[in-house]
Formats: sequence, C-alpha cells, structure tokens
Amino acid sequence: MQTREQSAPFPHTLLLGNFYGGKPRQSSGGLFERRNPANHQDLVSLAPQSTAAEVHAACVTARDAARVWAQTPAPQRAEVLGRLVFLLTQDKEQLARFVAREVGKPLREARGSVQEAIDTAAFFQSEGRRLYGQTIPSELPDKELFTYRRPLGVVGVITAGNFPIAVPSWKIIPAILCGNAVVWKPSDDAPGCAALLFRAFQRAGLPAGVLSILYGAGRDAAGQFLIDEVEAGTLNKISFTGSTAVGRTIGEVCGRNLQQPSLELGGKNPLVILADADLDLAVDGALWAAFGSAGQRCTSAGNLIVDRRAMPLVREKLVRRARALRIGDPSNPDVDYGPMINQRFMDAFVAQREVGLDDGAEPLLDGRRITARDRPEGFSGDATLGLYASPRIFDKVTMNMRVAQEECFGPTINLVEVDGFEQALTAANATHYGLSSAIYTRDAHAMLRFKEEISAGMTSINNSTTGAEAHLPFGGNGWSGNGTRESGIWVLDAYTRWQAVNVDLSGKLQKAQIDLVVSALPETESLEAILPARG
Ligand code: UN1
Repeated sequence: MQTREQSAPFPHTLLLGNFYGGKPRQSSGGLFERRNPANHQDLVSLAPQSTAAEVHAACVTARDAARVWAQTPAPQRAEVLGRLVFLLTQDKEQLARFVAREVGKPLREARGSVQEAIDTAAFFQSEGRRLYGQTIPSELPDKELFTYRRPLGVVGVITAGNFPIAVPSWKIIPAILCGNAVVWKPSDDAPGCAALLFRAFQRAGLPAGVLSILYGAGRDAAGQFLIDEVEAGTLNKISFTGSTAVGRTIGEVCGRNLQQPSLELGGKNPLVILADADLDLAVDGALWAAFGSAGQRCTSAGNLIVDRRAMPLVREKLVRRARALRIGDPSNPDVDYGPMINQRFMDAFVAQREVGLDDGAEPLLDGRRITARDRPEGFSGDATLGLYASPRIFDKVTMNMRVAQEECFGPTINLVEVDGFEQALTAANATHYGLSSAIYTRDAHAMLRFKEEISAGMTSINNSTTGAEAHLPFGGNGWSGNGTRESGIWVLDAYTRWQAVNVDLSGKLQKAQIDLVVSALPETESLEAILPARG
C-alpha cells in the first residue's frame, strides 16, 4: 500500500495493489477511484481493476496456503486473532476516521463498526481453543466414534461497503480460524478500508498466502471473476453480503457445483408499535432504525407498522424528530447521518419517491437529494460536493404496495396503519424478506407470539431492528439469505464440514447393524392374545 501525497486540505490518497500468493502483485487492469462521498474532491483510494486471469491465479495459489494452514493447530491459528484484537484496538480511532472518510459513516457509528470487528476477533481467538468435535459411543464393543470439524479449503469472500470493516471480519475471521485460505474481493466503495484491514491481518502474523485481496469495480469485473472460479473448480465456497439479485446468481452457480454459499442479502425489516408501547422509546428506535447510517444497513427498518390508536402520536413525534435530524459531514460529531455511499444508492432512493407516489402513498417528509438550493434546516454539509439525501416518510402505505415490498438503501420509512396485534403480525410477515424485525409493546403475550410467529432471523423486543452483537447468529429467511448464519458459534458450520471417524480396536471385522448382540425380546403375550377378537 502506498500513499500519494496531495496538496491540502485532504490527507493522502491510498494507492492500493492486489496481494496474493503471499506477495504484492501488479495488475494489468488499470485503476479505479474511490472518492469521499461527502466531498468528491477528496480522492481517498486508487485500486486495481483486477483481471479474470489475476483472480484465477490468486485462487490457484491460495490452495497451497490452505493446505499448510489447515495443518496448523487451531489454537495457534487463533493467536493471529489475539494480535488482531490488539492492533485493531490500538488503531481503532484512525480506522474509524478512515471509515467515515471513505464511506461516510458518522464517526460514532464508524467507531462502533470497528469495535464489531474487534469483538469478532476476540470471540474467535478463544474459539481456537474449542472448535469442538464430539466423542460418541459406538454400538459395537472396542470401537470408538468421533467427529471433527475440517476446513473447506479456499473460500471466496465478496463484501459490501456499508460496514467495510465489520462485515468482512464476520467472514474472514471465522474462515481462517477454521483453517481455510481466503480470497477477498472487497466492495469498490471501500477499497481503502479493506486495505487497512488486510494490513492488520498481515501485521498480526497471518502467514503469507492465507488471505489474498483483489480489487475491482462494477459488473463483469473482479466479483464476477471470483464467482466464475466456483465453476473453474478452484474455490470451495463463496461467502457474500449484498443484494438479493446477485445472491440468487451466486446460489445458482454454487448449487450447480454442489456447494453451499453463505448469502447475506437484503431486507425490508418491519418495526411494529402496538398501542400499549412506550411511544417515546418506540420512536427513538424507529428513528435510529430508519435513518441511522442514512438507512444504508441491511437491518434498517423499512416498514413502521403502527396500531391505529398509537398512530397519531407516533406520526407526529416521528415527523417532528426526523425533520430535526442533523445531516452533514460524517466527521462532524454532531451529525446524525452523513452522505449516501454511492450514486447507485442515491438514484434508487430518488426513484423510490416516484414508486411511493405512484402507489398512492402520502409523503409526510418528501426525501430528496439535497442541493445547495433545496436543503433541510439541520443540514451542515456541502451539497455541491457531497451526495446527501433528506429523510423521507411515506404515510398511508399498505403492504400490497411496491414501496412496502422493495428494499431501499436510503433514509426512508413507510407508515403502515393496522388494528391490533393480529393485523400487525400479518403485515410484518407480508414481505418476501425475513432478516430483522422489532416490536414495541408492554404485553408479554404479544412479545411471546411475535417471537414465535415472525418470520425473521433476528427479532428485537422493545429495541430497534439494527444493532446485532458479534456473538449472536446474524442472518435471515426468505429473500434475505439462504439460511446460513454469521457470527458466534453458528458461523463455524459455514466454514467447516463435519468428518465422522470410527476407530475399531477389536482386531476383527465388526459390521455395524449386523454383528450386534441384541438381547431377545422378553416373552410377553402378543396383542392378538390381549385384544378381543373383532366382530
Ligand atoms: C449490514 O447492514 O450488513 O446490526 C450489517 C447492525 C450492524 C450490522 C449490519 N451491527 O445493524
């Protein structure tokens, strides 16, 4: 990683290079740019547009590293993660500032997202001293049964840019702890963040070649080339966070090749407010879930489903507080949310306005791209330089509308009015997605039923839809994923396969199911003798 000096006021530009087979590699594919979304004059990173041949070479060379790494005892593999905890903690502030600069996450949230990677590394450092298999009694004498977790081999990791340190760490850390090699294609929105995380792994002592990184931007580029490697037979798994559409394609390719990918996809997360809820608490949660990170989380709330008795107050409080949100440069500590991460998200956010209006939804806050002339009161950024969006709240939304069904990465939420718990539950389950969900109520029965009957991988009671912790399973149902989970002990199943081993010490061929000494059934009267004859 080199830096290119620039004249003030910006810090330097990172000049990034691919790294595979344990070495820095020149790419023949040219460079792409990543600019600060709060200020397009700030060139944050320049990264190579990797070619298909380079991606292929990386996957092939990773195979050798995987073999050696798999033979390293798991507690030793985990030592790297202990050092990673130390390094990320030491560099937390710098990393968070870089996350804020490269993807526009407000500093407070950027710090939290680095902490999530630290927590993940700490969790898996100790998992290296477990990674348990089982001992199981055999049905035959002098025979022992065991299970072992074995690594898969080479894992291709493709990550999104909205949590550019946390989400890659959810994948790379357990994958390497389990003894796999990883070839990583980070988001083109966050190549610099990826390089800093990659560097931290190197400094932590990860052996050369265990983790490779190749950059690329756009369709038919490095991400696609990595997916193609499944067909080429060089990869044993793909782990992906991103859109449902791309997830489907990956699922198809992996399915054809009899592999199970990890797919963490979209969401249209419901947040329910019942009439008995603490409404101030609920509006706090809704505001954070809808507008935190400018709504660019897969756990953001999309539909706010409110009992009609609570609706007038919720509507009034939400609109008042959303109007007062402070939007601006993410390095400003007083900012509630910063810019949109990229033009694509901005375009989709702008287009969603038309979708809602066509559906007949009523805009209470008419979220738009902020410009020098069209700017909300609490805006402190420079709209001529950054990609900013104002909050949007649609009222009178029903679950059959497109606006209630389609994910939108942006500061927007729909108000859906319902009458009582049953209607709320039906509405909350009325999308194809099932990532996160929340309910605000004081009624213990409603809490219980919601937990049981909501179709979502994650459910909050009296808390917002966002805010997963690093040691709980993260993932969703339906269009939100293929059922794999990240984080905690559950992710181990995603990066290992079970091996069943039996050891026979009897010195003779003992055949399971056949050579059993089964005691004869005790002499008892048959049912026929006990039951009266028919008729
Ligand atoms: C994502 O949006 O892809 O629970 C991940 C949360 C964060 C992670 C979100 N800890 O919102």
